[in-house]
Amino acid sequence: MCGIVGYIGSKEATPILVEGLKRLEYRGYDSAGVAVLTNGKITIEKQAGKIGGLEKHIVNRDLSGKSGIAHTRWATHGHPTQTNAHPHADCTGTLALIHNGIIENFGAIKTELIANGHNFITDTDTEALVHLIEEYYNNGHDLEAAVRAALSQVEGTYGIAVISSTEPDTLIAARRGSPLVVGVGENEFVVASDVSAIISHTKDVTYLEDNEVAIIKRNKLTIKTIDNLEVDKKVEKIAFDLEKIEKGGYDHFMLKEIMEQPQTIRDAMRGRLLEDEGTARLGGIQHEIDSLIYAPQMLFSACGTSWHAALIGEYMIEEFVRTPVEVEYASEFRYRDPVIERGSVMFVISQSGETADTLAALREGRRKGAKVLGICNVVGSTIARESDAGVYLHAGPEIGVASTKAFTSQVTVLSLLTLLLGRMRNMGASKGVRIVKEMEALPEKVSSILENQGTIKAIAREYHQSQNFLYLGRGYNFPVALEGALKLKEISYIHAEGYPAAEMKHGPIALIDENMPVVFIATKDSTYEKIISNIEEVKARSGRIIAIATEGDTEIKKLADHVIYVPQTLEFLTPILTIIPLQLLAYYIAILRGCDVDQPRNLAKSVTVE
Ligand code: G6P
Repeated sequence: MCGIVGYIGSKEATPILVEGLKRLEYRGYDSAGVAVLTNGKITIEKQAGKIGGLEKHIVNRDLSGKSGIAHTRWATHGHPTQTNAHPHADCTGTLALIHNGIIENFGAIKTELIANGHNFITDTDTEALVHLIEEYYNNGHDLEAAVRAALSQVEGTYGIAVISSTEPDTLIAARRGSPLVVGVGENEFVVASDVSAIISHTKDVTYLEDNEVAIIKRNKLTIKTIDNLEVDKKVEKIAFDLEKIEKGGYDHFMLKEIMEQPQTIRDAMRGRLLEDEGTARLGGIQHEIDSLIYAPQMLFSACGTSWHAALIGEYMIEEFVRTPVEVEYASEFRYRDPVIERGSVMFVISQSGETADTLAALREGRRKGAKVLGICNVVGSTIARESDAGVYLHAGPEIGVASTKAFTSQVTVLSLLTLLLGRMRNMGASKGVRIVKEMEALPEKVSSILENQGTIKAIAREYHQSQNFLYLGRGYNFPVALEGALKLKEISYIHAEGYPAAEMKHGPIALIDENMPVVFIATKDSTYEKIISNIEEVKARSGRIIAIATEGDTEIKKLADHVIYVPQTLEFLTPILTIIPLQLLAYYIAILRGCDVDQPRNLAKSVTVE
C-alpha cells in the first residue's frame, strides 16, 4: 500500500528519499514521486510505474536540497498516472503533500475550494487536502497551524507529510488510521510509513498515534494533537537490523522467507514451551489468562492469510479447549453488528498490525465489550499497541507481499495458545508433553521438506501453463487448501480455488476434466479415508491429482499423478508442514510464468485503507 518517506536534516535529501522508497516497494504501489526543497523552491518529479523509472527520470534534474518528501502510490481515487502520483502541490507550488489513506469528504471540500478559485488538476482525493491547507496558509496560519486546521475538517484516514517553500526548515507529518513513524537521527529526522525506510539511518523512532501531528524542524521534534496540545512521546529502539530486510542471497524475498521458516517457527516457540509440565507460556497474555479460560466465546478476526490461520485456530481451540470460536473476516465484522457475549475474548490476527479492516474490527470488538488480544508480527504496530494484550510472532520483517513465514508463525502461536489453554482445561500432562515434543520437532521437519524441492519444481514445470487449479483439504487442512490457492493466485495470476474436499461434489466437481490440476492435502489423519474417496471422484473425471501426503504412504501413489511427502506429526500441527510445499509450488509456478513474485500486480503488503 502507499508508502511515505520524508527527510529533513543536514544531508542531501533525494538519495535518502529514493532509498527509502525502495525499502517500501514491497508494500505494493503503482507510481512514485518525490518533492525536494531546492533553493527556496519546491521541485516535484513523479512517474507512473516502478521506482526505477523515477530514478531514470530524475537523473539529470536538479533535486539538490536538504529536505523533501517522497511517495509510492497505490491507486484508490483516479488511475495510476503521472498526474495522479504524489506529491501534490497547491495552486502556486508553495506546498507539497504526500498522503496515504482516503479523504472521504474530498468531494465537498473540492467543490468549495473550486468555488473559492482553487485550480485542481488530478483525480485524487489527496489534492483536496493540499488546497485546503493552502486556504488556511493564505489566511495567515503558519504551516503547522494550517495543517492542523485542515485536518480537523477532514473525514477519513491519513498519514501525511507536507513541506512549504516559505518555511524551509519545517516538515509536518500527521496520522489518523495510517501508520507513521519518525526516525530521530543526529541533526536529522526521517519520517516514514514503516520503519524499513528508516533503519539504515537510525534505530531510534517515535510512533505517531491517531490525531497526532509531528512538527519536525532541522534539529527539533515536537508532537502535538490536532487540537494543539503538546504530547510527550517516548523514543523507542527498533529491534532488528538492516540485514533482516535484505534478500540474503536469494532471488526473491518470498523465497528467502519460505526458506527461513525452520528458524521463524523456532523463534515463535522460543522460551514458550515448558516440556516438563507439558504446557506453554505466553508472557504477553499471562495476565489475561482468567478471561481466556472462562470466556464463553472466542472471536478471531483477520484478513487474507491471517484469516486462514485464524480458521486453523478455531479448529484447534474447539477441539482441545472446547470453547466456541467464531472466525470472521475483519471487513465483515466491523460493519455487521455481531453478537458478542459478556466475557468474550477477541483475537485479532495480523502480520503487519496495520491492516485497516482488522484495526477497525479490534475497535468494534472493544466497543462491544470484548477483551481484545492481538497476534501480530510487527512490533509496535498499531494493532499491537491498541490491543489489551497480545503475542508477537517474532518472525522478523516479512517483505514478500505473499505472506509465508508469518502464516506458519501464526499457526505456531495458535498451537501454543491451544496447548496452554487445553492444559488448563481438560488435557492431561502426558498429552501435553507429547504435544510439546511434536512442536519442538517441527522446525527439523520443515527443513526436510525444504531440502526436497525436486518434485515440487517438476510439478511446477508440468502445470505452470494451466489456467485453473483446485485445492482441496479436510479438517485442519481445509484452511491450508484456501491458503495454497491464495498463494497461487496472488503471485502467478492463475485462477485457483480452495474448497473443503467433500464440498467439491456440490459444485466445483463440474469444473473437473483432464486439464484441471487438483491439489489434495491428504495426510494420514482422521479424515484420510474420506479424502481418498474424494481423490477417487476426481480421478473418475480425469482430473490431474497432486497429493500432499504423509511420508510412508505408498498407497496414495496408485491414485495420484504426483505425490509430495511431508513428515508425520500430530493432526492439529499438520498445517505447519502441509503449507510449505504449497508455498513453494506457487513460487516456482510464478517464476516459470515470469511474474514479479515480490511485487504482484494490484496487491499491497499492508492494506491500510478499507
Ligand atoms: C494484504 C496482504 C495479504 C495479507 C493481508 C492481511 O492483503 O497482501 O498477504 O494476508 O493483507 O495482512 P495482515 O498484515 O493483517 O496479516
